[in-house]
Amino acid sequence: MATLAAPRVTAPRRRMVPFVGQTLAYFHAPLEALRYHYDTSGPVSDYSFVGRKWTMLLGPDACETALRNADKAFASSGGWGYLIGPFFDRGLMLLDFEEHHHHRRILQEAFTRDRIADYTATLGPAVEKGLQAWQPGTGFRAYPALKDLTLELATEIFMGGADGGPEELARVNQAFIDCVQAGLGFIRFGLPGTRWHRGLKGRQLLEDFFRRHLPARRESGGTDLFSALCQIETDDGQRLSDDDIVSHMIFLLMAAHDTSTITVSTMMQYLGQHPEWQQRCREESMALPAHPTVDEIDTLVSADLVMKECLRLVPPVPGLARQAVKDTEVLGHHIPAGRLVSIGIHLAHHMEEYWSDPERFDPERFSDERREDKSHRYAWSPFGGGVHKCIGMYFGTVEVKMILHQLLRRFEWTVDPDYVAPMNYHSLPFPKDGLPVDLTIKGQPA
Ligand code: HEM
Repeated sequence: MATLAAPRVTAPRRRMVPFVGQTLAYFHAPLEALRYHYDTSGPVSDYSFVGRKWTMLLGPDACETALRNADKAFASSGGWGYLIGPFFDRGLMLLDFEEHHHHRRILQEAFTRDRIADYTATLGPAVEKGLQAWQPGTGFRAYPALKDLTLELATEIFMGGADGGPEELARVNQAFIDCVQAGLGFIRFGLPGTRWHRGLKGRQLLEDFFRRHLPARRESGGTDLFSALCQIETDDGQRLSDDDIVSHMIFLLMAAHDTSTITVSTMMQYLGQHPEWQQRCREESMALPAHPTVDEIDTLVSADLVMKECLRLVPPVPGLARQAVKDTEVLGHHIPAGRLVSIGIHLAHHMEEYWSDPERFDPERFSDERREDKSHRYAWSPFGGGVHKCIGMYFGTVEVKMILHQLLRRFEWTVDPDYVAPMNYHSLPFPKDGLPVDLTIKGQPA
């Protein structure tokens, strides 16, 4: 467990590979880079990443200390702000302490079980419509198809429909991609032609887009998330301003989109490689209606095990960013005020100390009988922890399971058992080859 009161405070051990090399090593093979750091430098060590010195926290004890943040030494705004600040300014994850608490309390009203039941009622038919467009075949690129699908779903559930038509939506989608990718570039000012510059233009486009559609949502009373943000009010009468709604919408759409896409994509990969699990999940889905309610979705036990295992193997947000706002220490290592800190939750998911045969796909490790995730409170934290823990965790889980549910009812698929996804880690992880699967309509020959 975390030892804030460790007896001796030492400086973090020195980094082992030079400046740009550390960033590139991470982009190339993040898990290996993290393991190397842990083995050579321990759970708290310094490294260079995208132009700054960071302290890397690895292993569940170090991650827990920063995420629990008992002495309020770590701020999210400084850490994430360095990476994505100009593009996701004033999103919930980029607020801290009192202000964060105030906004989170209001936003929570948009994620009650009743609201999620409303979103789920829209989700079922929208997923079905999206999947009807899929053209099965050998080498079907599942990842881009899922990305399009989750964007369409976001349009329905977050926006209450596609205002502006497909061209505007394509521009909005590209603006999101530009904002997400901007943060990990080496050039960190608006030089034309750089990722940073594209990100700034993307943010402007998104602000204009949401501001234009806001007055109608203030009026509408619809059941989509945008309308919810316009209408919600806490018991003591707190509401969001127009500026806040625009910033929260931009961040929420980003936070929901890539994370859900990569989760379903990883599930498709492993279920394609493990037909016995695909069949087991399918049997449970066939026992439910095509458009299940939230309560029915919660009964999909095997899908739940598979989702947890896939989030362990490929966490959509492998590292979390913070900045020390005062001198502090983690596991006895001094961290000076101002230092950027990365919380490497990914490595904890793969450590032999906490998981049996960690590289193996083994969803049963999450079963009630085994519960390997209980080996340490922070052995498994794909949704983070502490006050910034994902506010969309439950809704995201419902969305992912709804997509999987309908995929299983409509299709069968296989993936080469030896396939290893060539992942791109320049923003959130995704398979560079688009995840080729051999996809057929269920019950029909290939
Ligand atoms: C499988 C899907 C998802 C994963 C793996 C995921 C992961 C995460 C993680 C790791 C954090 C913590 C970041 C930190 O502490 O620095 C986070 C925060 C957040 N997520 Fe998610 N997320 C998912 C889906 C969603 C969805 C669907 C939404 C919205 C509908 C959402 C909205 C947010 C927001 C607003 C925060 C910031 C919370 C705060 O700062 O209080 N996420 N998410």
